[in-house]
Amino acid sequence: MHLTSLSVWAATWLAGQTIALDLTVSKTGGNASSPLLYGIMFEDINNSGDGGIHGQVLRNNGFQGTSPGLTAYAAVGNVNITQDTSNPVSSAITSSLKVSVPSGTTGYVGFANTGYNGVPVLATTYSNSFYIKGAYSGTVNLRLVGTSSGIVYADHNITVTSTAAKFTSYETSFESSQADDANNEWQLRFDASKVAGKSLNFGLVQLFPPTYKSRTNGLRNDVASFLAEIKPSFLRFPGGNNLEGASPSNRWKWNETIGAVVNRPGRQGDWTYANTDALGLDEYLYWCEDMGMEPVLAIWDGLSLGGGIVTGSALNPYIDDVLDELEYVLGSTSTQYGALRAKNGRSEPWPVKYIEIGNEDNESDGCSTYASRFTAFYDAIHAQYPDLTIITSTTSSSCLPTTLPDGVMTDIHHYLSPDSFVAQFDEFDNYSRDHPILVGEYASTTGNDGSTTYWSYMQGSCAEAVYMIGLERNSDVVQMASFAPLLEHFDLAEWSPDLFGLDSSPDSITGSTSYYVQKMFSTNRGTTILPVTSSGDFGPVYWVASVSDEQVYYVKLANYGSTAENVTITVAGTTHGSLELLTGGETVSNYPHDISITPTTSTVSGNGTFKVSLPAWAVAVLAVS
Ligand code: AHR
Repeated sequence: MHLTSLSVWAATWLAGQTIALDLTVSKTGGNASSPLLYGIMFEDINNSGDGGIHGQVLRNNGFQGTSPGLTAYAAVGNVNITQDTSNPVSSAITSSLKVSVPSGTTGYVGFANTGYNGVPVLATTYSNSFYIKGAYSGTVNLRLVGTSSGIVYADHNITVTSTAAKFTSYETSFESSQADDANNEWQLRFDASKVAGKSLNFGLVQLFPPTYKSRTNGLRNDVASFLAEIKPSFLRFPGGNNLEGASPSNRWKWNETIGAVVNRPGRQGDWTYANTDALGLDEYLYWCEDMGMEPVLAIWDGLSLGGGIVTGSALNPYIDDVLDELEYVLGSTSTQYGALRAKNGRSEPWPVKYIEIGNEDNESDGCSTYASRFTAFYDAIHAQYPDLTIITSTTSSSCLPTTLPDGVMTDIHHYLSPDSFVAQFDEFDNYSRDHPILVGEYASTTGNDGSTTYWSYMQGSCAEAVYMIGLERNSDVVQMASFAPLLEHFDLAEWSPDLFGLDSSPDSITGSTSYYVQKMFSTNRGTTILPVTSSGDFGPVYWVASVSDEQVYYVKLANYGSTAENVTITVAGTTHGSLELLTGGETVSNYPHDISITPTTSTVSGNGTFKVSLPAWAVAVLAVS
């Protein structure tokens, strides 16, 4: 702190008054800001994929993972239901649901699926499909019903002609009215008198409310739209730990996540539950295309979470597998895998430019072998695709090759307490500019006392904002940054905190305080970071200024402190704009079904000078022109 400002600050501190801070934004100088700075990271954790952003809302529809059992299924009427492995739907979906009807049964009977702790029942149109095997000609009745209330929200009949020889698939759509809560189920019923004393088999039941951009097998429109409000620039996927697998054979396998969903076997994910992989490689890339995001595709590099790291020549099949994956993504339709992509509905190659080799190879005993594993993958990929930007999964120099090839980016992750994030404000101020940085995962996950954070609260979100201000000030070298994890199903979360969440009740989507910080920072971006002269040093107020190509000046501010601060901001030549403000007490948080803080926006005007009253624990963005 400068001596003169020290005395002013000391005097006001002693007087118990708020401190005035003057910031003058220079209109010249500064450094370029990465256009990709604010993005998102996604893996299926907390049922954020199945039961989260993916549009299909019925659970256990492929009996996948290590112990599917009859999870989410229930008999409707006088029937017996069992998992039937002797009637697989396909070579990938190796079980179906057998519905046995006792002799003499009449009326409509069948089975229910209760989704991911309820089926979201909205006033909208649903697409519904299922497979059926067994002799049956007649009506199949599809319903959305309150599990406890018995209220019928949707009731739809189709005519089915099924034989015992093979599975036949049916697809239909119907309208529903909205339920009050999540306690709902989907039912499939048929005429018991036609099946009495016999059984029918059903498989791969699928139910979709409207999808984002109306994609087939797409994302839930309401969830994806809420996410798109952040305007993220990139998507890092598919993990995270969920890339790695408990063993090499259990890793995320790109070629088992493509094509018709009935041909995807799914896997036991790394976050304790089965992944259907209906959200697969192509769906991730459509997601990127539909939200205007740059894909950052992570590939498996020999490290799995249960030990058994693959090294040396044993890596060769996995390297070949990655080259096949890249041919699928990038190859022309005259290549083997490019042709497969076209067969799966996408002729044009995907515009993938960033490949990350592994995930957190500084962890899980990966460090000592990462340099050689990275080099093996890098050499093979770079030889065929010299224009791809390759990313290391760690910045730890002890895990990296002594000399990293030019153009390689490095990924760093931080899960910290609020104070620790603030201490990292200047992390990149004097950092080497030799290799660009991806901050691929970060979040304030504990309180300063070490307690686990359940949902982000203002102190932690302010600390993240302070850190992000540090990133933006250094966004010549920090090219991408993403909070993690992104999303949780409230009832099915393994990790907290998460950026936003939902359950199966209407209007459940909840943004954390950190979601709003991400949104404020991402939707107010300049192209050049501008120098700022100040009457005081950083802390408790932190700031960064930028200007866009359209000559809008942005000043981002965070007050990581318990007293209000008055800030006077001068940007010569500007006259008007807006101030977006997120504030609440130090421990104030949004919770599932209890949103107490969202940003407010006010208009501002001035003759090049704007006065901002920054409450305690506040994040603000001034945008003026
Ligand atoms: O974001 C949750 C987990 O944290 C990620 O899967 C992993 O990369 C990190 O350790």
